[in-house]
Amino acid sequence: MTFISEKKPPLVQRVEQIRELTQSLLIHLSEEDQCVQSMPDASPSKWHLGHTTWFWEAVILLPHCPGYKPFNAHFNYIFNSYYESMGPRQPRPQRGLLTRPALEEVMAYRAHVTEALMRWLQSLVQPVSENIGYLIELGVNHEQQHQELLVTDLVHLFSCNPLWPKSGLYLNPNQGLQNLESKAQWFKFDANLCDLGQDANGDCGFSFDNEQPRHKRWIEAFEISNQLITCREYLEFIQDGGYQNPSLWLSEGWAWVNRSECSAPAYWLSPQSAFNETTTWKVFGVDGVLDLQLSHAVTHLNFFEADAFAQWRGARLPTEFEWEHAFDHQDMLHMRGQAWQWTRSAYESYPVLNLGTVRFVNTTVNSWWANKCYAAQVGQRPKDTRAKLIETFSHLQPLGKSQAFV
Ligand SMILES: [Fe+2]
Repeated sequence: MTFISEKKPPLVQRVEQIRELTQSLLIHLSEEDQCVQSMPDASPSKWHLGHTTWFWEAVILLPHCPGYKPFNAHFNYIFNSYYESMGPRQPRPQRGLLTRPALEEVMAYRAHVTEALMRWLQSLVQPVSENIGYLIELGVNHEQQHQELLVTDLVHLFSCNPLWPKSGLYLNPNQGLQNLESKAQWFKFDANLCDLGQDANGDCGFSFDNEQPRHKRWIEAFEISNQLITCREYLEFIQDGGYQNPSLWLSEGWAWVNRSECSAPAYWLSPQSAFNETTTWKVFGVDGVLDLQLSHAVTHLNFFEADAFAQWRGARLPTEFEWEHAFDHQDMLHMRGQAWQWTRSAYESYPVLNLGTVRFVNTTVNSWWANKCYAAQVGQRPKDTRAKLIETFSHLQPLGKSQAFV
């Protein structure tokens, strides 16, 4: 659906583009692909389509658009994720049981909400108020989060299928995670009192409130590697018996290794194994099964794997505050919009809460992308750990319909 207007404000164009992009990510998928849930932490594509629509409806249209009528009152239960203040909800592990509403009805729901949203946005006097502007940015960023989650969940779903389907998505080769030369350097930072976090009223653009407020924090001296770990480096860890050495792993991580019997990152297929008869490593992703590229950054590590690798290298993961401080160094690579990177910091609020703002939790911290290696001593593993990435994972594009895939 296209909402033609000769003079659309930039914000209206952004909302329209983000709504269309979500749907375009799925053009190569069947209805069956979009209904299945592969594990309790993942969601079916159909649910992501409905949930992002519900968010616009429940958080923005119903409270702010006069006369807006909900598409279906029951959808609040089905498509609420975890917002306690908005009522009970379908448990996440059971989202794959929602064979109804059918995909067709979910798409009609999307069209209903997008059309109402466009009409309302174009009726607003420009520039919009600060509160409305924030809510619209929130809706855009929330939908972008779910685009990333949708693709992450889809790769896991397809990895459960021995036909190894391709998703029909294209990862922009300019994302910068390929062909990493061995130019890694350690950058030194002196002990310093640093300004960290985002200023809600600053000029750095949108940030979720879990990254606010800007505040001061003392950071001891540390060193940090300027680029991500490559698959070659991680393969050395594997071949050195990394997954068989309990001294490298946190207790909970070692329990995971034994329980899962994992001996390589998610989606790696070892040589001469059940699904890889060749003598070289393969990896599964949005493009199906491909040769493992040793010069690429290793991704899809869980926290325990990233931590164990750092131990093996005589280093540790950074705190999120060290990571943020290092972000300001102009020669640090891969910090923006490329891969989620584990930190060793607990997922907790910054010291001053903005109690005047409704709090929305950034859901993407549970993504699996990335690792990073730092020098210093290892501390305890926090209960919930922050992963960091500046800007939403934003380099996904759908393949053109003419490009064939399985
Ligand atoms: Fe959400």
